[in-house]
Amino acid sequence: MPAPDFVTPLTEFAPARLRGLPARFEAQKIAFGPVVFQCVRVAWKSGLLALLDQAGKAGANIEELTEKQAAQSGLSAYAISVVLETALSAGVVRREGGHYSLTRIGDNVLHDEMTQINIDYVHDVCYQGLFALEASLREEKPLGLKALGDWPTVYEGLSELPEPARTSWFKFDHYYSDSAFAQALPPVFARKPRRLMDIGANTGKWSLHCLLHDPEVRLTLLDLPIQLAQARTTLEHAGLLARADLYPIDILDFAAPFPGGMDAVWMSQFLTCFSLTAIGHIFRRAAECLAEGGSVWVLDTFWDRQRHDIASYCLINTSPYFTAIASGNSKMYESSAIVAGAEAQGLRLVETVDDLGLSHSLLRFERAA
Ligand SMILES: C[S@@+](CC[C@H](N)C(=O)[O-])C[C@H]1O[C@@H](n2cnc3c(N)ncnc32)[C@H](O)[C@@H]1O
Repeated sequence: MPAPDFVTPLTEFAPARLRGLPARFEAQKIAFGPVVFQCVRVAWKSGLLALLDQAGKAGANIEELTEKQAAQSGLSAYAISVVLETALSAGVVRREGGHYSLTRIGDNVLHDEMTQINIDYVHDVCYQGLFALEASLREEKPLGLKALGDWPTVYEGLSELPEPARTSWFKFDHYYSDSAFAQALPPVFARKPRRLMDIGANTGKWSLHCLLHDPEVRLTLLDLPIQLAQARTTLEHAGLLARADLYPIDILDFAAPFPGGMDAVWMSQFLTCFSLTAIGHIFRRAAECLAEGGSVWVLDTFWDRQRHDIASYCLINTSPYFTAIASGNSKMYESSAIVAGAEAQGLRLVETVDDLGLSHSLLRFERAA
């Protein structure tokens, strides 16, 4: 009997009585998903995939890999066979005549930035905490967060996350939001805002873009105190602190007002951090603080507004992180939920721009008449 070729769809070698097997095989991929994830990650991090890349189409056998690998991270022939056989089953490598070589899937793990950022984020930030997902869903509390530290939500701990979680979190966050910032500037500044408020300013990246883009705009940055310390450093280094006001706030204190007179209120990848109830209180205060003719802008990743399934897949599967690790009651929302939340607070949607950066949509709201 020939050894299975994991790249061939099961139907091609299954007798008719086993035609139901492809679905059963897909179900096993779910059952063993975490196992495959860990092995493929080790294959990448240990340098095995890079060695196979160098070996090209001819590939390399276990003995050759063991010899080369020993000089790097010292995996034994046994360990390499465990990792590569799982990688084979997942289509990350192929094997011919005992020689392993890289497939296109393996090539993505080794070279694609988005794949690597996602793997690091899932492993360093989410993996251990997701063990507490079921209890977190029941209690709507981020019970998995204690795998990283002792905070009520991840946001209080962002600047103090242990490495490598901290680096992986910020890379994940910035990879997605940064990609949209440059494209979002023209629509926002077409309305020439003089006072712009950046809610959830984080490290101050969007505020920095704005201050560099328009020498006459003044920024007000809102975030938790610990985050604003980071933003201050960013703007200080750029010599732009004079046109910025830092306004520490816990947005979940629903009685805390926002500073008024704003031509534009900006929230990027911010509302995903909160429950629908909290989002209602944020929109209420955002609407109240607008100057005459002002706009509330929401830049976010909505899984229902994606052009490609790959984007919706990544977004939907980020929601369990929000439950188990981030806040316990937030998620990647569909755009209709956010629009309804804004409308309930006297705002109306007047403009939507899709396909910004990797997967963002920009929504503009005005006060309803
Ligand atoms: C996912 S980050 C987005 C940052 C940035 N706007 C971007 O687009 O990259 C969410 C931000 O919301 C802030 N945040 C979360 N909970 C908050 C709270 N209760 N009060 C104030 N800010 C909060 C976090 O500190 C963080 O900077």
